[in-house]
Amino acid sequence: MRIALYQPDIPQNCGALIRLAACLGVGLDIIEPCGFLLDDRRLRRAGLDYHGLGEVCRHRSWEAFRSALWPNPEAAGPGAGAPRLLLLTTGGDRPYTDFAFAATDILLLGRESAGVPPEVHAVADARLVIPLRPGRRSLNVAQAGAMVLGEALRQTGGFRSGDRASDGASDGASDQAGKADEGADR
Ligand SMILES: C[S@@+](CC[C@H](N)C(=O)[O-])C[C@H]1O[C@@H](n2cnc3c(N)ncnc32)[C@H](O)[C@@H]1O
Repeated sequence: MRIALYQPDIPQNCGALIRLAACLGVGLDIIEPCGFLLDDRRLRRAGLDYHGLGEVCRHRSWEAFRSALWPNPEAAGPGAGAPRLLLLTTGGDRPYTDFAFAATDILLLGRESAGVPPEVHAVADARLVIPLRPGRRSLNVAQAGAMVLGEALRQTGGFRSGDRASDGASDGASDQAGKADEGADR
């Protein structure tokens, strides 16, 4: 299971997703260009000390990401044995709660300002929606990612029952650093 971020705009959201991926043990792909520098202090702050704990891959463009995912499109394009690309979108046609996830799936999140362009929408193996109450536009991208990743890991046995959140001293040390900054959540 991986999460992919399409041209993220907001460093705090990207940092929160880096933290989410590190905590739950999934890889994260960042598809550039981003709306901020990847050494942005707001991104580092939101990701706390989780930056070194996860696997983060940067791709310089959508095309570079696709080549990394499907190196030989003739032999193994989408739906032909390659990992499935599942787009999370407010324009989705399938509720994520009705979808059968696989451990090799990639959950693609759109940019905060504009989602993804039509060509990216078209190439996804599935377009999943988190149903919202009428008149509501969308969720925060990190919250949407957390909801769907949680369900995907639950279905595929991705949560290891022996794992527990740490309440040890190392968390406390990073907590103090964060509090000094802006009273961020831990
Ligand atoms: C703030 S939303 C973007 C809204 C944008 N206007 C659009 O049409 O996609 C940022 C991203 O969060 C995810 N997201 C937010 N709400 C969602 C929902 N209800 N269902 C599925 N994905 C959602 C999508 O990946 C979306 O591209």
